[in-house]
Amino acid sequence: MFHSDIDRAKIAQEWDFNGVDYMNHGSFGACPRAVKEFQSKQRDALQRNPMDYFSDDTVRNMAENRLFWASFIGADPEGVVHMECTTQAVNTVMKSLALRGYFKSGDEILLTSHGYNACNNVAREIAELTGATVIVAKIPFPIAEAGQVTGAILAAVTNKTRLALIDHITSETALIFPIHDIVAGLKKHGVETLVDGAHAPAHVPITLEKLGAAFYTGNGHKWLCAAPGCAFLYVREDFRDRIRPLSTSHGANDTNPHISAFQKNFAWTGTRDTTAWSTPKVAFETLSGFHRDGLPGLISDNKRLLRYGYKLLLDALGQKPHAPDDMLGTMATLILPPGEPLPLRNDLRQRDNFVTQLWWASPSIGVGRILRISAQAYNTPEQYQRLTAALFAGLKREKGSVKSALKTWVKKRLIKKV
Ligand SMILES: Cc1ncc(COP(=O)(O)O)c(C=O)c1O
Repeated sequence: MFHSDIDRAKIAQEWDFNGVDYMNHGSFGACPRAVKEFQSKQRDALQRNPMDYFSDDTVRNMAENRLFWASFIGADPEGVVHMECTTQAVNTVMKSLALRGYFKSGDEILLTSHGYNACNNVAREIAELTGATVIVAKIPFPIAEAGQVTGAILAAVTNKTRLALIDHITSETALIFPIHDIVAGLKKHGVETLVDGAHAPAHVPITLEKLGAAFYTGNGHKWLCAAPGCAFLYVREDFRDRIRPLSTSHGANDTNPHISAFQKNFAWTGTRDTTAWSTPKVAFETLSGFHRDGLPGLISDNKRLLRYGYKLLLDALGQKPHAPDDMLGTMATLILPPGEPLPLRNDLRQRDNFVTQLWWASPSIGVGRILRISAQAYNTPEQYQRLTAALFAGLKREKGSVKSALKTWVKKRLIKKV
């Protein structure tokens, strides 16, 4: 049985899921009420006086929350800038490097078979433009130990490898990669790393000064529960002169000697709703307030809940864990019996009210239909019990419908023959 340190049913009231059982925080993490209200107030202030909001409040909020990010991820604040999402940050780094001649024809960009499709597509586009080649390190799934990831990545390095794009936590397979070993191993071969940490903030500790990666990006709008459009990019000092925003800013020719060129470049890239960038700090404070040991306590409780739900589902499917315990955080992926994912997902949604991430694994992972589960503060053990029963029943119905489709098909053939 699972005993939570926190009153999950009560905490769930801080979210407005409109009656659905939301089991997919990993894809899109909704905000608790305090964060939503904070952002609404910011939006009201913006509409009351856009001039004051953009020239004073935004500047102050961005500075304050940039400092928050820097201390949260253990990084030099000078190297941290706000982003709208991880995809944007990966584009920013790759396109800046390409524009400044970092990739030459014949160079290699190293990805993994578990990489996020949109980010891998950026690497493919850059390779096409520059004549570089994309190399994909094949990571197994299910996986026995984290060392297999480091081993596969390092085995794919050649003397032409220029940059590796590596996930801290993978999307489809929900695995925590041993990012410190990977970055250090690549460094020994002279290869720089762009870490896609989309899922990492408020999920695993991030200590960038220690990690030493050239680039790291993460989302505030996933596990930290900040507003959608909240992310960061960190760039190590020796690369700051080469990384520019996708949209060139006023700051590009700012002569203020007290602000670094890197910060000026990212300071004002055009008018937009900047309110999401003011939410990471309040999101952190809100999540921290849910557990007596603050955010680390909440994450550890979520991890225990995840393991409880994962075991229920694995047992129901008659399967063994697909990954060692140290590679799992607050998400896990199960390989489902062969079949179409969408009808089963819709079935779970329509009959049982569950919002799940149930879809095809990418061909590079090659395990067919998968279900990824997530455990956030609002999820309960009882939800996992119901989800397990609903999935089991859904799979059974599916078998039944396969059987009856087969019967109809056989009948039709027999009738034809007659
Ligand atoms: C590993 C990984 N990278 C990047 C992204 C993209 O995040 P965003 O949509 O915020 O750009 C995701 C989204 O789920 C992801 O899982």
